[in-house]
Amino acid sequence: MNNNLSIEFVKVTEAAALAAGRWTGRKKKEEADEAATEAMRNTFNAIQMSGTVVIGEGEMDEAPMLYIGEQLGTGNGPKLDIAVDPLEGTNIVAAGTANALTTIAVAEQGTLLHAPDMYMKKIAVGPEASGKIDIDAPVIENLKAVAKAKNKNVEDLVVAILDRERHETIIQEILAAGARVKLVQDGDVLAAIHTAFEHSGIDMMLGSGGAPEGVLAAAALKSLGGDFQCKLLPQTDEEKNRLKEMGLNDFTKTLFIDDIVKSDDTYFVATGVTDGELLRGVQYKGNLGITHSIVIHGKSRSVRFIEGQHHLVN
Ligand code: FBP
Repeated sequence: MNNNLSIEFVKVTEAAALAAGRWTGRKKKEEADEAATEAMRNTFNAIQMSGTVVIGEGEMDEAPMLYIGEQLGTGNGPKLDIAVDPLEGTNIVAAGTANALTTIAVAEQGTLLHAPDMYMKKIAVGPEASGKIDIDAPVIENLKAVAKAKNKNVEDLVVAILDRERHETIIQEILAAGARVKLVQDGDVLAAIHTAFEHSGIDMMLGSGGAPEGVLAAAALKSLGGDFQCKLLPQTDEEKNRLKEMGLNDFTKTLFIDDIVKSDDTYFVATGVTDGELLRGVQYKGNLGITHSIVIHGKSRSVRFIEGQHHLVN
């Protein structure tokens, strides 16, 4: 992929964040999501590329979402796969709390997992524990493996997990092993990526969440040298049929990081909407908007933090 595209991709998440940020604390998650989606679509469509949304928020008839199969870009230029979550943390923005992001991942055509928007069981770790995890193993085994790889005791580990009733058993297993839990209200993309950033204090992420969020996290972690495994969790016959239509006949199988993201030539980009542990949120001052973004490039394994100043036109 042409390196110049990276700045174009940053403009996409910046535009979405600038649009969604205005909805902070207004208790209107749909409006925030729609604002991010529209800005993301418009900005994508100005890029010289032929992009396809391979995983995103729902299906064609569920507009105004950026739907799976949607074509983005001018239609000229490189053929690319795109994973999107226009607003990761709709509830976060609605409540005005921390860690909402706008985020995308882009890779060469045919290299990102093409799957419906459904639940997915996930395990994520940073570089030191890469290759040591097994999504099918008991929680205690994964904890021991990660502790050994990081030269820590199990009691030293912190596991991030979405605060959901469905995770009660896993949470009890983590605590019974003596490790600590960081309950996350929303946003498992960031929770997963945090495992690759020492300062976050997060050693592992476990639990189930959205599949698009899984692909986005896998794209970032692959470039950061981390690890990620998942299993799709269809809840209905309709979801099972949709999986088959997309060629995923054996949905019980483990998807490894290289199954989810097949190429190194990837970009993961995110912009903060509300202030967070990795990125600051959008700040507005008159007709000036300030954004903070991260760009992770797989080929060069580079991580860039970009502050943007934007002249806002009404
Ligand atoms: P959205 O804001 O995009 O809806 O996602 C927030 C999120 O917390 C994701 O990070 C996570 O993967 C998913 O929701 C979990 O779903 P649920 O809230 O149904 O448990």
